[in-house]
Amino acid sequence: MKSMDETPTLHRYRIEDRAEVLDFVREVYPAPVSARMISQWTWKHEANPYTWPAGPAVDFLRVGNKLVSLATGFRLRLWMGGIECLGENRGTWIVHPEYRRRNMWARIGALQATDSPVLIGWSRLPPRVVASVEFGNDPLRPLLRILDAGPLAAHITQLPSFASIGAAASAAGRMIARPFRRTRDRRNGVVTRIEAFDERVDELCARVRNPEQATVVRDHRYLNWRYPQRPDATYLMFGLERAARLDGFLVARMSTYLGMRWGNLIDFLAADYARDLPALLAVAMEEFRRGQVAAVSCYATDLAARGALFRSGFFPIPQRKPIRFVHFIRPDRPDLAKFKAVKAWYLTMGDGDLELAS
Ligand SMILES: CC(C)(COP(=O)(O)OP(=O)(O)OC[C@H]1O[C@@H](n2cnc3c(N)ncnc32)[C@H](O)[C@@H]1OP(=O)(O)O)[C@@H](O)C(=O)NCCC(=O)NCCS
Repeated sequence: MKSMDETPTLHRYRIEDRAEVLDFVREVYPAPVSARMISQWTWKHEANPYTWPAGPAVDFLRVGNKLVSLATGFRLRLWMGGIECLGENRGTWIVHPEYRRRNMWARIGALQATDSPVLIGWSRLPPRVVASVEFGNDPLRPLLRILDAGPLAAHITQLPSFASIGAAASAAGRMIARPFRRTRDRRNGVVTRIEAFDERVDELCARVRNPEQATVVRDHRYLNWRYPQRPDATYLMFGLERAARLDGFLVARMSTYLGMRWGNLIDFLAADYARDLPALLAVAMEEFRRGQVAAVSCYATDLAARGALFRSGFFPIPQRKPIRFVHFIRPDRPDLAKFKAVKAWYLTMGDGDLELAS
């Protein structure tokens, strides 16, 4: 047991620290987690388009010469209701088991040392632990659409996240029975599979951003880094074009969950959700059906997006311990304080590293 008076020091990661930091990752995480973190490391932290010249948004603590804790993140361009700034997604946070319960990060004032006005992330830690490092947090529940109830029914008792198996099963039954509403008028929008994003998505993003919302800026530099360049996953990406203009996009991913083929709507943006999201969803669902997907899940906070998803057969899933969106807004930025409420954010599963852990 180390003595309690050993004072930790805070360090900002530089590329020269990589070997030592990755050794720490191997030591403190189970092998599958460390393998994933190492395979994503350079892409996620060093090659992120908004990494500052000062270096990646990765901090660590030393006690003496020993690296004892790591907090990793990456920069994001944020639109905070009319104010553009760079923020940070804060992902991994770990303290070496021999150094836990010393409240080191709060004691050292690590948050006060950050140069970003806004930090965001996702957490499954109990709210009081998140609050102990001054982060606010709000639960977020997924939306689900059943495509094939057969495999789902066989697995329903194993689904750890369902609060009420009966509620989920009857909801599944209702959704299967109800015919999905068709899009009435797609007004000549054409949905195509895309391999990369071009500058037209920057224009779409600027056109649809809401002066009352906070959101990650989905420009082509960010989206191409986040999806097609990710080293350890493959995404299906769709764009909706109307004449030469891009009016929406959808990023989806197929995976395996409890032995079932599973679909995820990772990210989306649309000029008009009621009109454009169903057109994008219809094409994604065809791909999912071809891939024999049992169910599709997503996260969405935007009311117009949720409305379009509900009309397309998605329904919210109650969960006993939902994931929490966590956020820190510097106290010296009262102009951003209204974004402490999750309902003021445009969020999807693609934001931060919610989906990067799979
Ligand atoms: C979460 C973690 C970084 C906190 O670091 P720490 O230096 O121990 O933090 P603190 O000293 O402020 O103590 C945190 C408190 O939260 C509690 N806590 C930590 N993880 C917890 C969990 N998963 N469930 C319930 N309580 C938890 C600790 O027991 C402690 O309680 P106490 O105040 O009553 O003693 C550390 O516990 C850790 O490395 N956990 C494993 C990795 C992890 O879960 N990271 C978070 C997700 S990225």
